Amino acid sequence: MSGIEKFDAVDLIKAKRDAGELSTDEIRWLVDAYVRGVVADEQMSAMTMAILIRGMNRRETNDLTAAMVASGERLDFSGLSWPTADKHSTGGVGDKITLPLAPLVASFGVAVPQLSGRGLGHTGGTLDKFESIPGWRANLTNAEMHAQLEKVGAVVCAAGTGLAPADRKLYALRDTTGTVEAIPLIASSIMSKKLAEGTGVLVLDVKFGNGAFMSTLERARELAEVLVGIGTDSGVKTRAVLSNMNTPLGLAIGNANEVRESVEVLAGGGPSDVVDLTVTLAEHMLELAGVTGVDVRANLSNGKAMDVWRAMVSAQGGDPDGALPVASETHVVTADRDGVITHMDALPFGIGAWRMGAGRARKEDLVVHAAGIDLHVKPGDRVKAGDPVFTLSANDSARFERALEAVDGAWGIGDTVVDHGPLIAGIIGA
Ligand code: URA
Repeated sequence: MSGIEKFDAVDLIKAKRDAGELSTDEIRWLVDAYVRGVVADEQMSAMTMAILIRGMNRRETNDLTAAMVASGERLDFSGLSWPTADKHSTGGVGDKITLPLAPLVASFGVAVPQLSGRGLGHTGGTLDKFESIPGWRANLTNAEMHAQLEKVGAVVCAAGTGLAPADRKLYALRDTTGTVEAIPLIASSIMSKKLAEGTGVLVLDVKFGNGAFMSTLERARELAEVLVGIGTDSGVKTRAVLSNMNTPLGLAIGNANEVRESVEVLAGGGPSDVVDLTVTLAEHMLELAGVTGVDVRANLSNGKAMDVWRAMVSAQGGDPDGALPVASETHVVTADRDGVITHMDALPFGIGAWRMGAGRARKEDLVVHAAGIDLHVKPGDRVKAGDPVFTLSANDSARFERALEAVDGAWGIGDTVVDHGPLIAGIIGA
């Protein structure tokens, strides 16, 4: 290294501040120099704010994504005898879809390598849910992941720190500088990790509503279009499903209870919204991977997806028949009148479950796998005075009060249901 840098961060910040376009070379240098510590945090904060205000065009967003992918390792599943398909969800309350989805897709001969994270705040993490299963292990080496995919067809494991390290550094900075919300930054962040995972095809579940990262359908659609653009321009067949997150998904919000609900779905039962979203996402993944003309729903009732589930859990040391943890304390909230459930807002219920111990406030915290909320009814259901509406579960009854505060006013009993529209509001991508 000569020690002479190709560009000056201040020039690039000023260019973006003044609504200019950054070149491919400039973006590549910026990300690389930021990872090397040559571009300082305060300079990158100014840049992310300039991007939030001025935006980035499609080429710039693609370049930013590619630069973040290039900052780390890239997995390669091309040696597998199976085609691969991946899914990403922008996160929601009661979103356990990966659990039934991965084995369902694998049951049709398409392998699902799912690198996941732990939850922070009210949004649950897929690994936290799996870790409710006795013995289950999240950390696999790349060789173990490959071997499991070849044998079983599905793996859910912790994303190593080697994938898109630039994104980790940039995301932490955005979190403290009010620049998380910029669509080019969100899209490049999500897609850099997904492209580094080396999947063949990708389906994105982009959620909208009060429990989603994007509260309006318009913003979710905008994000979905940029995400699909990045994937397509990178040669990965990508499609996005816009799904409704105004009401918690399914009846279980937590970890162990979400595993229980997922197993119900794999046994051919479970709440209809969880089943419908799982089947829709599976159909898109399979279609993009070249599998058409199959009855996706059938493999939930004929035991084929369940067989893959059992194999994937066992392969990672988990006991598919092991007892899931149960909380020592419960509190049941009942209806105070007859009527219909008018609404159940996802975000407050997510916060309530988090306060019960199901989620963590800081990265270092441990989650209580048995804690959470189980709904007994959903919006539109009729109740009579005294009927159970939902149950809070925790290992410490002192947690109930704060959880009840969170859900206060977030649900109601009346005569008419609040109309939040359909579960699936649209599909983006070819
Ligand atoms: N999820 C991510 O991975 N990155 C973002 O920027 C936002 C949500």
